Amino acid sequence: MTRPCVRPAGHDRPAVAAARSSSRAAHRLAERNQAGDTRWVTLSEGPASETAGERVPGPDPGPVAGDDIAANRVLWTGVNAEYGNDHALRAWAAEDVTWGVFNVPERDLGVLGDVAGLDVVELGCGTAYFSAWLARRGARPVGVDVTPAQLSTARRCQDRFKLWFPLVQADAGAVPLPAAGFDLAISECGASLWCDPARWVPEAARLLRPGGRLIFHTTSVLVAMCRPAGPGYAGRELLRPQREVWRLPAPGAGVEFHHGHGEWIRVLRAAGFVVDSLHELYAPAGAGTHPYYEIATADWARQWPAEELWVAHLAA
Ligand SMILES: C[S@@+](CC[C@H](N)C(=O)[O-])C[C@H]1O[C@@H](n2cnc3c(N)ncnc32)[C@H](O)[C@@H]1O
Repeated sequence: MTRPCVRPAGHDRPAVAAARSSSRAAHRLAERNQAGDTRWVTLSEGPASETAGERVPGPDPGPVAGDDIAANRVLWTGVNAEYGNDHALRAWAAEDVTWGVFNVPERDLGVLGDVAGLDVVELGCGTAYFSAWLARRGARPVGVDVTPAQLSTARRCQDRFKLWFPLVQADAGAVPLPAAGFDLAISECGASLWCDPARWVPEAARLLRPGGRLIFHTTSVLVAMCRPAGPGYAGRELLRPQREVWRLPAPGAGVEFHHGHGEWIRVLRAAGFVVDSLHELYAPAGAGTHPYYEIATADWARQWPAEELWVAHLAA
């Protein structure tokens, strides 16, 4: 992700404040709007006073997080322009659920289970193909992302594949949706990689019902330590201390967040989660090196886990 970036032209102001009332309300709204041109339920990441009468939950991001959010929005606007559309169309068309840049099949991991009937929030949904996969399996997803361009691509895919669900423009650390409205919170290299866990993990806990599950995928702390500062793939040497990668400015633009496993467990438990499993993901035998994302070659990732998948739940 070392691509030139363009600044977004601006982000939409909220179109439909009613979508805040609950995820079901958001879904009813999306269904109603399928005939019109407002299928994209857009909420600002700004303060509630700018968007509607209701208070936006979650803490103010503060200056550092605010800068990180802005940098990541610039990065993902650029990635969307370069790569987002083609990749999104391919991913939306895919029948199987897979995880990460090496497409580890969900059927080999079995972390999702039956999602039919579940209210799902995807934090950092990007082009929302993961939500689309879940919607096809009977879930009611709501996609949340901070980058308007990514949501525009998601919306185009919704129209193309005739599969609509609410898309909410918001920072995963302050999601303008009510508490306890979801059964499953999910993130596939979304907020899980690009937002400070101290901000998004408690927010995921707030959004979930008691007993609700959190499943997130991110790149490993190991690969973060082995990646060069500039362009290029991870090598065999540790190039930076683990203590420094928790907040890692990405090459080019953007800011990634990488915790070691102990710190992940601490953050999850502090937010009320019970950790069920951690899957360290290796590239499958037939996988190739990703053509766009410079993280690790497939050969590297067959030897060391470049990605990981966490499963946790809130106490009932
Ligand atoms: C790898 S992409 C999306 C992942 C998705 N699986 C996909 O590939 O389309 C990372 C996404 O995280 C989003 N993101 C970054 N920081 C965020 C934040 N603080 N809140 C919500 N989304 C964020 C970016 O806008 C981007 O769309």
